[in-house]
Amino acid sequence: MESTVKLVSKADYESATAKTRDARMAWWREARFGMFIHYGLFSVLGRQEWAMAHELWPVSDYERLTEGFLPKPGCCSEWARLAKAAGMKYMVLTTRHHEGFSLWDSKVNPYNSVNYGPHRDIVAEFVEACRAEGLKVGFYTSLMDWHHPDCGPAAYDSAARKRLTDYILALNTELLSNYGKIDILWYDGDWPLRSFDGWNAVEMNQRLRALQPDIIINNRSHLEEDYGTPEESITPDGKRDWEACMTFNGISWGYVDSEQMAPYAVNANQILRMLSICAKDKGNLLLNIGPKADGSVPDEAIAPLTTLGKWLAQNGEALYGKMDKFTMTTERGLWGVGGMLQSLSRKGSTIYAWQWLWPPNGEIIISGMVGKLLKARILGSGKELPFTQEKYRIIFPNLDMKDRDPILGATVIALDFEAEPEYIGFAKIAPLLFGQVYE
Ligand code: GLC
Repeated sequence: MESTVKLVSKADYESATAKTRDARMAWWREARFGMFIHYGLFSVLGRQEWAMAHELWPVSDYERLTEGFLPKPGCCSEWARLAKAAGMKYMVLTTRHHEGFSLWDSKVNPYNSVNYGPHRDIVAEFVEACRAEGLKVGFYTSLMDWHHPDCGPAAYDSAARKRLTDYILALNTELLSNYGKIDILWYDGDWPLRSFDGWNAVEMNQRLRALQPDIIINNRSHLEEDYGTPEESITPDGKRDWEACMTFNGISWGYVDSEQMAPYAVNANQILRMLSICAKDKGNLLLNIGPKADGSVPDEAIAPLTTLGKWLAQNGEALYGKMDKFTMTTERGLWGVGGMLQSLSRKGSTIYAWQWLWPPNGEIIISGMVGKLLKARILGSGKELPFTQEKYRIIFPNLDMKDRDPILGATVIALDFEAEPEYIGFAKIAPLLFGQVYE
């Protein structure tokens, strides 16, 4: 390998990856929704995936968790089937979390799931399960490793640092060499080196990209790479691709007792609210589940994801595919987001109004979109809605409660305009409201 990769400077590496980014990211930019899976020895403990560190476990004690790590046959297919049913398009598995236990047949790391626990290559099963459901394959990989003796000393001992970074590169080389085409490499856990220099990320990522030329890499090796990763908040990034990663419960990525977690779990409508922001601001949602020790899906995730998938099967046009941002015409931004009955997304000249509520008094009025509306249709049923249009308002009169979305009560109205409508913000609406003449 050494001899075949011609290493270049950081600037040259970044300009080369920028050139191929649009092509590599094309599928990802249309996918919008993926499943994150946190699975490892921490799933056996069931006290959050940081327990080894937070509770200061001696390594030899923690290693004994391998005895209880017994994923049932077919668990990866269970995850993949649920992801598919939920309308997700890709999956990212913790192939090795900070605890240092590899879920694959590693020659570099003997502390793995083939030598211990199930004596199976879980990564191989995962890859196969994703492919069987037509889902793209993502590998989460931790930089930090609590099981590796050099991880602490690497902060001050350059020989230890070299051994650690060589080790991480060797692990990732295995992952990206032995399982066919891999779509995403998802770095995490930058302690203790905390810089791209520290982790040799420029060299490491060049070597890894040489193995998988189409791969997409996130921004957590301290290089910007292909996309940003806001965590536990849906925070759009106006300047680059972004993917919000979210726990299912606001508390833990790894499995914690389902009965206790149930009250904290998100429901389908809450996930939909997250997705609506992703649709409007062209980002992705990577929603996590933490399987139980035996690999089964936590109970509280099954119903919301299944219901959500039914909704997306009817309404996915408002979410998936090449979305467009709104062109703002006033400095105060988009009128009609937050504190409104609807969220919006756009594809060319079609605007999707995600109606969270369906007023029982039978009328929806959408203001601020100026342009000729040709047709309005309910996405789920395809039914055309009669409307009247004024310069600043679109009015849907005499709505029928029967037309409200039967799955989640969130009805999407697709507004097909002649051309992208001018979208005016509150700064322009306010004078109209107060009876002033604008300008
Ligand atoms: C944080 C946590 C880690 C988790 C990750 C997912 O970095 O430390 O446990 O895997 O978030 O984004």
